[in-house]
Amino acid sequence: MSKKNLLIKPYLKWAGGKRQLIPELKKYVPKNFETYYEPFVGAGALFFFLQPKKAFINDHNEQLICTYKTIRDNVDELIELLKIHQSKNTKEYFEEIRALNKSPEFLKSMSYVEQAARLIFLNKTCYNGLYRVNSQGLFNVPYGRYKNPKICEEALLKNISLYLNSCEICITSGDYSEVVLGADRKSYVYFDPPYHSPDNTSFTGYQSGGFDESEQVRLKKTFDNLTKKNVKCVLSNSNTEFIRDLYKDYDIITVTANRAINSRADKRGRVREVIIKNF
Ligand SMILES: C[S@@+](CC[C@H](N)C(=O)[O-])C[C@H]1O[C@@H](n2cnc3c(N)ncnc32)[C@H](O)[C@@H]1O
Repeated sequence: MSKKNLLIKPYLKWAGGKRQLIPELKKYVPKNFETYYEPFVGAGALFFFLQPKKAFINDHNEQLICTYKTIRDNVDELIELLKIHQSKNTKEYFEEIRALNKSPEFLKSMSYVEQAARLIFLNKTCYNGLYRVNSQGLFNVPYGRYKNPKICEEALLKNISLYLNSCEICITSGDYSEVVLGADRKSYVYFDPPYHSPDNTSFTGYQSGGFDESEQVRLKKTFDNLTKKNVKCVLSNSNTEFIRDLYKDYDIITVTANRAINSRADKRGRVREVIIKNF
């Protein structure tokens, strides 16, 4: 399959999704690279935009990674299950499906494809398409009341499946630091971590555990190590003093983005973000 001959885009809405930052991000994609790495892939806006022939995509959210792997390995059954969810979509049904994770045994009681269909259904129908979990790691977003949510995007899912199967795409759910260990001078790495929030009011709780300042410092060490190995890296983050100071030895570009998902209404809308690069 030649590059970009399929219509592909993210199939999930994800907090921190980068679709509207693509015009900026594409300016900093190296002309030639062999392997693409996206260690915090989320909904994969840049990944799907680039459609690389060889890539490592990763996110430590196992339920999210379950959807990528299921689209690759079992797309027809996934589509059937999504059609069933689509036909039953009401607030009561949503709450029933959401409540399935209250039992600690829930992952064992559902097949892999059922878990993938559950996440896609909840993502398409919940408020704001926000994937948020509480301190016990349980998805707890309310119903979104969309008029006609596209729960089963059959053609898109089939195209993504074809793409994932016809290219060399490695999909994992580990920590970002492990995924990039094999990157070399012919690689391009795009880091899109949970954003730094000085007052802790921004949404960063994709998974219990969070991503605090010590995590931002740990990530910077990974960025430094890759820089020493001549790996081309780009990272996006919020435009805070802490981040600007942490990456002061690198090229920092300030951009404006639209942010819809924030727990504080005054922080939604147009905000400044940074793109940091080492080449
Ligand atoms: C800002 S989002 C990425 C958004 C993505 N670029 C998009 O366009 O949708 C950050 C992601 O990092 C993941 N994450 C958080 N900590 C991680 C870690 N230590 N290793 C790998 N992924 C992590 C979260 O699950 C979340 O999906």
